[in-house]
Amino acid sequence: MGSSCFRVLFLALCAVVWIMPDMAVAKHAGITRHYKFNIQMQNVTRLCQTKSIVTVNGQFPGPRIIAREGDRLLIKVVNHVQYNVTLHWHGIRQLRSGWADGPAYVTQCPIQTGKSYVYNFTITGQRGTLFWHAHISWLRATLYGPIVILPKRHASYPFPQPFKEVPIIFGEWWKADTETIINQALATGGAPNISDAFTINGLPGPSYNCSAKETFKLKVKPGKTYLLRLINAALNDELFFRIANHTLTVVEADAVYVKPFKTDIVLITPGQTTNVLVKAKSKSPNAKFAMSARPYATGPATFDNTTTIGILEYHDKKPASNNKLPLLKAKLPFFNDSNYAMKFNLKLHRLNTAKFPSKLPQKIDRRFFFTVGLGILPCSQNQTCQGPNNTRPAAGVNNVSFVQPNIALLQAHFFNRSKGVYTTNFPANPPFKFNYTGNPPKNIFLDSGTKVVALPFNTSVELVLQDTSILGAESHPLHLHGFNFFVLAQGVGNFDPKKDPAKFNLVDPAERNTVGVPAGGWVAIRFLADNPGVWFMHCHLEVHTSWGLKMAWVVNDGKGPKQKLPPPPADLPKC
Ligand code: C2O
Repeated sequence: MGSSCFRVLFLALCAVVWIMPDMAVAKHAGITRHYKFNIQMQNVTRLCQTKSIVTVNGQFPGPRIIAREGDRLLIKVVNHVQYNVTLHWHGIRQLRSGWADGPAYVTQCPIQTGKSYVYNFTITGQRGTLFWHAHISWLRATLYGPIVILPKRHASYPFPQPFKEVPIIFGEWWKADTETIINQALATGGAPNISDAFTINGLPGPSYNCSAKETFKLKVKPGKTYLLRLINAALNDELFFRIANHTLTVVEADAVYVKPFKTDIVLITPGQTTNVLVKAKSKSPNAKFAMSARPYATGPATFDNTTTIGILEYHDKKPASNNKLPLLKAKLPFFNDSNYAMKFNLKLHRLNTAKFPSKLPQKIDRRFFFTVGLGILPCSQNQTCQGPNNTRPAAGVNNVSFVQPNIALLQAHFFNRSKGVYTTNFPANPPFKFNYTGNPPKNIFLDSGTKVVALPFNTSVELVLQDTSILGAESHPLHLHGFNFFVLAQGVGNFDPKKDPAKFNLVDPAERNTVGVPAGGWVAIRFLADNPGVWFMHCHLEVHTSWGLKMAWVVNDGKGPKQKLPPPPADLPKC
């Protein structure tokens, strides 16, 4: 059979899987699903300006991955562009499949031009919405798409079956080339330019000049319930989201079911996903409804203070009469409404039932206290930097600004060749104490290095993440690869190890992969290190990642056969 013929057959099979997922699924075990992702350039016009962007298969946003819990995914990524590329399957646990996780120089060397790599992993114990994105430099600005994980066959949602399911993926758009923007910022020691627009499913909407035609529309039928799979794929901004005159019911966050709660507004940080139900009004109203998102921003820097708008409209109206209907606005909180943010986050509780039990670790093996925030670094030699006294902005965890190695940490770990690549002396506590959320200390220089924390297999970890006010307090959406963690509590000011543990929710804490460390505050989390490998943890504000707000956990193999990281696949890219 010729390969093109094979492809046609394969596409046909895929179509069957997509349209009637049930038919192709074996009774109990999951199936294997194949995807081919060609990384290629594509001209795209937004805000009346055309630029060439990096895409998967020429699509923006990228293709949707659909699978069921228990399925195996084989995603062949072929790089046809001038950039080095890696893809990350954000939120997928990657149990003993760390080679498929994707962060560049952490679990793999990048896929070079003309090369390919097959990401091979099985979705275990997760269902809901996640997303994939590039994990090198700022390529994720245009390389991203939804991952939809349906429950196992014959398994149902713990909420009424929606009439339809719709991914709503928020993005951030620059008129200029984003690789040029970040490269220039790093070269000059300045801050990268802010974006020109936010997007809903790739479309900025009518609030921007020259963009009314590029508006996402959600058409609904009266009386029906829709599941919106919200994903924040923006680079640098947390977002508030609201649909005018419609209440949302949150049912899932980061591919974990939550105790359903009603809200008008959702807060979603980069790296977070949130499933919400929205019930259409029983009679088609004489209006259209804005679906709006705009930043929740707390930091000292300027930010893109614009609003992206999609439109919810009712089906039965003819397009012509729909055009005449008034568009009702969705009012959002002020950009710095931290009270709202805190209140929203406190509403999230994991579903904790016999069918979906919480696996919160009850006994703790290791405790860590990490400060997260900004700082400065000396300008490198032969460089002039825009910061005071020729310094450059940087960011770190426990005062360490992470330096990206030249080969992947996971390879160095697996082959016992960590020497000269990384050290295992990442500080468990800040190197010096200060009033983290008060007046900053005089010396705000960070250290730099490639340091990790090494953990024995199955260590249960409790970690307090404390924001600092150095160069301004700011909310940092911290993302952990390879694990979900439990969000025990959060607060403003400095964490108090004597009093605050009494506030920990040890019953039904939210379980997720990304959490906003409150601006000028702290959050306490727990996770069980039951996944051998090297796992990145970083701020999901891309500018902070670029500045070094990242570190890694090395989880060593356990003794049992199912507690070891298998050897790398033969096609693992070389540096
Ligand atoms: Cu969504 Cu390390 O990333």
